[in-house]
Amino acid sequence: MSLMLDALILLLVLYSLFKLRRAHLLLYDMRDQSRQDNVQMFRQLEALQGLYAELDLGASLPATRDWAASPDFLLALTRHARAKQPSLVVECSSGASTLVLARCMQLNGAGKVLSLEHDPHYAAQTRAQLRQHGLQDWAQVLDAPLKPLMLTGESWPWYDSSALPPDASIDMLVIDGPPQATREMARYPAGPMLFERLAPCAYVFVDDANRIDELEILRRWKQAYPALHQSTLACEKGCAVLINGG
Ligand SMILES: C[S@@+](CC[C@H](N)C(=O)[O-])C[C@H]1O[C@@H](n2cnc3c(N)ncnc32)[C@H](O)[C@@H]1O
Repeated sequence: MSLMLDALILLLVLYSLFKLRRAHLLLYDMRDQSRQDNVQMFRQLEALQGLYAELDLGASLPATRDWAASPDFLLALTRHARAKQPSLVVECSSGASTLVLARCMQLNGAGKVLSLEHDPHYAAQTRAQLRQHGLQDWAQVLDAPLKPLMLTGESWPWYDSSALPPDASIDMLVIDGPPQATREMARYPAGPMLFERLAPCAYVFVDDANRIDELEILRRWKQAYPALHQSTLACEKGCAVLINGG
């Protein structure tokens, strides 16, 4: 009887020790995660501060969390647009990126941003923000509803291609839409639909490049467009940079 009791107590002690160890490990994980979150948050704050300094903005940018492009991605766009002074910037999806790029064109004193936007509500919102920043002459938000496009034997919801001027020669292309929810690998058609319009030495910036979908899209583009040299920038959501003839 006493032997059974001893065994039971031993089992209980072992179980408690096991639970205690699990809790201990969990606590370490949470501490590491919280440290990483703080580092990431600090990096984004530094990038945001850099954006305000480098763009000398007179009004606040819209939110740069969740659905919006992150400050580090926006700063990468800014540095490229200021250094290379592209004449024509095309972007898939509008928002904070449109304001940032339009401000770059204004500071450069030349260039134009054409932003494809499928959602009329957000198109109107971005236009209002451009006016609020006095940037309406440097960027145009184009109403481009998503329409079914047949590619590789499949249907893809893609921006109405008639929205862009047919002769557009793109110096800088920013791919941050359509939203992921529209379909698997939603941004794949950017390659077949827009890469042939890239100017020699054009740059393509792909946001969210850490996602599984974007990694697969980049893999397919690498095969289909060997003239586009791919590299990456360390941004929180991932940023791929493709250089035409690079
Ligand atoms: C990834 S977001 C676009 C981000 C944009 N390039 C930027 O820098 O802010 C893709 C789409 O989200 C939509 N969108 C814009 N603002 C939004 C909001 N506040 N909430 C949800 N979706 C939004 C727009 O239709 C946009 O085309």
